[in-house]
Amino acid sequence: MKVVVCKDYDEMSQKAFEVMKEVVTSKPGVVLGLATGSSPVGLYKCMIKDHEENGTSYKDVVTYNLDEYVGIDRSNPQSYYTFMKENLFDHIDIDPNNTHVPYGSTKEDCEGYEKELEKVSIDLQLLGIGRNGHIGFNEPGTPFDEMTHIVDLTQSTIEANARFFDNDMNKVPKQAITMGIGTIMKSKKVLMVVSGPEKAEAVKATVEGPVTTDMPASVLQNHPDVTLVVDEAAASLL
Ligand code: GLP
Repeated sequence: MKVVVCKDYDEMSQKAFEVMKEVVTSKPGVVLGLATGSSPVGLYKCMIKDHEENGTSYKDVVTYNLDEYVGIDRSNPQSYYTFMKENLFDHIDIDPNNTHVPYGSTKEDCEGYEKELEKVSIDLQLLGIGRNGHIGFNEPGTPFDEMTHIVDLTQSTIEANARFFDNDMNKVPKQAITMGIGTIMKSKKVLMVVSGPEKAEAVKATVEGPVTTDMPASVLQNHPDVTLVVDEAAASLL
């Protein structure tokens, strides 16, 4: 695992953007796995600025998002579908038909998304990390070979995400549909962005800890091409 330590969130976003741009411009029809949360927003801003200033095109780029809440409509401002439109897709020249965000609550919905993913090979999978080490919505205990599935969110994730729902935990959906760890591990390259002191323990366990389902991100030690871009606060325990 390659670890790049940056002084702050902005430098983290810039460094991650450099990795992203290299992949996006490497060939036509690049397939990206994308993530939500506050961690990748700065990177998405860099992509938008670069598109506007340098004309980097996303016309042929295809994207698959990691996850989505269950039980909220796509038009809900807190849906990851809306998040992606607002933070990236509406500001670049990507074809909306080439963007995919999982949706649904049934086994069939999960299998359908996984079938779509079987048709492609993700060139770069972008990841954030939860405080408890979750990736996508794969909470501690998730088997490493699981593919797209429905999860019950842990209390700590519900609490962490309440900030997006008027700080009211009762409004946070209790389930999500997520690519599995098996799905994530199939991608050719993984780019993880992490910032803030509250992620420091998860970062340490990801990089130095045992590979265990108790810390889902530790599975990345088994992936051949991972770049972890962290700010100093998140890297403070390394
Ligand atoms: C959510 C998402 C994850 C994300 C994590 C961290 O639960 N499902 O994909 O990595 O939160 O979010 P943030 O970057 O806002 O800390």
